[in-house]
Order: sequence, then structure tokens, then C-alpha cells
Amino acid sequence: MGISRVGVIGCGFMGSGIAQVCARSGYDVAVVETSQEMLSRGLEVIEYYLRRDVEKGRMSQQEYESTRARIHGTVAMDELDDRDLVIEAIPEDMELKKRIFAELNRLCLDHTILCSNTSCLSVTELARVTSRPDRVMGTHFLTPVPRSKLLEIVMADTTSEQTLETVREFGRSLGLEILVTKDTPGFIFNYLLLALIGAAVRLLENGVATAEDIDKSMTLGLGLAIGPLALADFNGLDVGYMVARAMHERSNDPCLAPSALLKEMVDSGRLGRKTGEGFYKYRGDE
Ligand SMILES: NC(=O)c1ccc[n+]([C@@H]2O[C@H](COP(=O)([O-])OP(=O)(O)OC[C@H]3O[C@@H](n4cnc5c(N)ncnc54)[C@H](O)[C@@H]3O)[C@@H](O)[C@H]2O)c1
Repeated sequence: MGISRVGVIGCGFMGSGIAQVCARSGYDVAVVETSQEMLSRGLEVIEYYLRRDVEKGRMSQQEYESTRARIHGTVAMDELDDRDLVIEAIPEDMELKKRIFAELNRLCLDHTILCSNTSCLSVTELARVTSRPDRVMGTHFLTPVPRSKLLEIVMADTTSEQTLETVREFGRSLGLEILVTKDTPGFIFNYLLLALIGAAVRLLENGVATAEDIDKSMTLGLGLAIGPLALADFNGLDVGYMVARAMHERSNDPCLAPSALLKEMVDSGRLGRKTGEGFYKYRGDE
């Protein structure tokens, strides 16, 4: 089955990027938000990044206009009733996502594939609230979406081979390299990332080395662009703590257990770059 009309639910940090890359690749995109205010904010973000692409010579003015014209914003979820594929990018809350999947199942066409951008929740659980569990899949876009080269696609226990092939082809049409993973906590990317950050925090907590030396072992030793502790600061320690806790609860895997140091830092409001202090101290736009 070919995909031409795409729906995106949530026009926040990830949804705005997903809508943008789909429209840039020629798809007709309908993006849904909870209110006009949230919708306007999300569409402004999309326009800002598309204009920046024009300024940097990555896109012509004509491409900007045709891409923008392919994105239609709405606060009425019913408008997704003609979509071939819908990607959910609402907050990481299982009950909220289940409600949206049940609603999408009711209003979407029979052939529509329903995807979730969840970072670590069970896609199989989402598939089970629908009457089309073979047409439900995870599409885990990485951040920043417009610059990312990877898409991790997640097979629920019930996803059919046909759905896998359609979504794989869709991802490739966005110019992305596709990773296929089973529905396990954190899939490939977040499992490895959270295990690495968790190990780095434990080294620091046990007084083995300084934050600088722990990070250097990975930047200079392994060639990573950023060390695990600096990356945790960049992403926000509250976000990292929440994701690690959810993944640990789901798996009981000791590699994913958030450390006491991380909890203490979150409780004391040292959340990384956004609060000026995490594993490092930040000043101004440093
Ligand atoms: N932020 C990241 O780095 C990242 C990376 C990969 C995956 N994810 C996953 O992507 C999803 C979205 O994360 P985000 O960072 O974009 O969150 P966000 O808070 O920036 O955006 C979520 C948006 O969903 C909207 N929303 C909430 N309920 C809605 C509803 N019923 N209908 C329509 N819109 C609704 C909110 O108004 C908000 O704008 C989460 O599952 C998250 O785990 C996030």
C-alpha cells in the first residue's frame, strides 16, 4: 500500500520536526494539536526552521513555499479520517497514548497504519487497544528531527511483515537510514544511550574520576562528539531520570536503574544546561 497522506498528532518538539520532514519529502501532512495556541506555536517553529534552511541554502524559496503549503494544522482529530499513516508524538504517558490510539482506531480508514514516536513505552500495549494490531508500529525519530539521519522502527509483537515493509519504505522516502528493533524498553538507541549515561553517572558517584575525565574517555577515546555527562546535561537531567526510571520499571534491567546521585540532582533542581548547572556549570549561552 502506498502512503501519500500523513497525520501527525502533537506539534511539540518532535511532532513539529516530524511534520516538517514528511512535508519536505512531498507528503500531504495534517498536524493536530490540543488548542489553537499550541498549534500556532508549533507551526511557527516549523516555519522558523524551514526559513533557516532557505537562509543556509539548504532549500530554495520555491521549495519552502511548496513544503509549507503541504502542512495543514488543525485542532480537530476527525480530520485524520483520510490519512494513510498517522504518527503520534504526544507526551510520554501510556494512558494518554492509549486513549489517542483507541480514538484513531475508531476514526481512521481501515488501511491506515498507526505509529507511535514513543521513546520507551510498549508499542505492543498500544497496538492492543486497537482492532488493527497488525497495522501498529513504533517510529522513533531522533532529535533534532530535521537533521537526523536515523529512524528506528519498532515491531510490536503483533505488527505484520506488510506493515514493516510499508513503514520501512516510508522512512527511506524521508531520506533516513532505518533500524528495525523489537519492542523492548528503550529499543536500540535509548537502551544503549541510557546504559552509557547511567554507567558514567555511577563512575562519578563512586568517586572513580572527575566528570571531565569520564567524558574525555568517550570523546577522545571513542571519538564521540560529546561525552555522556555533558550529553545528559544537554538533554535535561529530569528527562533522563524520567526515561531511565520508566525503562527500569519495564525491564528491571540493572543497567538502566537511575542512580541516587541523579535523583538527588533532579530533586535539588540541578537539571543541566537549562538551569545553568548539572554535571557541569553553564554561564549565559555557553
Ligand atoms: N524530546 C525528545 O528528545 C524525544 C526524542 C524521541 C522521542 N520522543 C518522544 O516523542 C513524544 C513527544 O515528545 P516531545 O518531546 O515532542 O513532547 P512535547 O511536549 O514537546 O510535545 C507534545 C505535544 O503534544 C501535544 N498534545 C498533547 N496531547 C495531545 C492530544 N490529545 N492531541 C494532540 N496533541 C496533543 C502537546 O500540546 C504538545 O505540543 C514522546 O513520546 C517522547 O517520548 C521525544
